[in-house]
Amino acid sequence: MTNQLPLLEVRDLDIAYGDVQVVFAMNMVVGQQELVGLVGGNGSGKSTILRAVSGMLKPKRGSILLQGQEISGISPHQLTDLGVAHVPMGRQLFPAMSVEENLEMGAYLKRSKANKKQNLEKVYAFFPRLLEKRKLFAGSLSGGEQQMIAIGRALMSEPTILLMDEPSLGLAPKVVQEVMQVIHSLRTLHLTVLLVEQNVRQVLKITDRAYVLEHGKLVIEGQSQGLLENDAVKRAYLGL
Ligand SMILES: Nc1ncnc2c1ncn2[C@@H]1O[C@H](COP(=O)(O)OP(=O)(O)OP(=O)(O)O)[C@@H](O)[C@H]1O
Ligand SMILES: [Mg+2]
Repeated sequence: MTNQLPLLEVRDLDIAYGDVQVVFAMNMVVGQQELVGLVGGNGSGKSTILRAVSGMLKPKRGSILLQGQEISGISPHQLTDLGVAHVPMGRQLFPAMSVEENLEMGAYLKRSKANKKQNLEKVYAFFPRLLEKRKLFAGSLSGGEQQMIAIGRALMSEPTILLMDEPSLGLAPKVVQEVMQVIHSLRTLHLTVLLVEQNVRQVLKITDRAYVLEHGKLVIEGQSQGLLENDAVKRAYLGL
């Protein structure tokens, strides 16, 4: 039965910072093993929604359901335990610690602690470059490699859903493509991914479906391929 429920569902979500409401009646569904994009310009509310889903913010109204279970208001730590992993904007690594030490930080739950060695091997199998550089300071790696560490660290908690906030931020265009390919290939690990990005074109190329936000409101949603060909999307977001 539970397999028929979407992995994540957001219903009629309002979110405010103090008296200032910034997300309005948001609805979104992320199916099991789907790769879904949440895109929109600066300040449109993408990170705010992600923070609510990962328990860092309590919404003003509405529901956040994980496999049908209400999770709004649950602590970030409990959510990690339920399989929700957040890869934050700006990566937030410890630059003066080794790559491996950074990865190991992701394994702080009881469950993931017990499987730390195996999970580390899985991460290295997925990112061979991190294995090569495991003893180096994380801060000495390139921007793209640091993004791989951030993803790898999230994988160490054995997540079912990865929430990624602007993984392309601050990376050169060529590296952005590389990171997008990495995210696309996460599906080989049977993961579900919610990807937040300003880079609409890149997101639509790799995701199954996407939601487009403007000023905290959902304006368009659909299959990513269809959105890439949609005239309004092309004009507003793809500069065509
Ligand atoms: N901690 C905060 N306190 C008050 N207002 C905030 C806070 N964080 C964000 N906001 C406001 O909420 C709105 C949505 O911001 P949010 O960071 O979610 O947008 P975003 O879509 O992630 O933008 P960006 O692409 O720039 O990261 C903006 O108007 C922003 O100024
Ligand atoms: Mg943001």
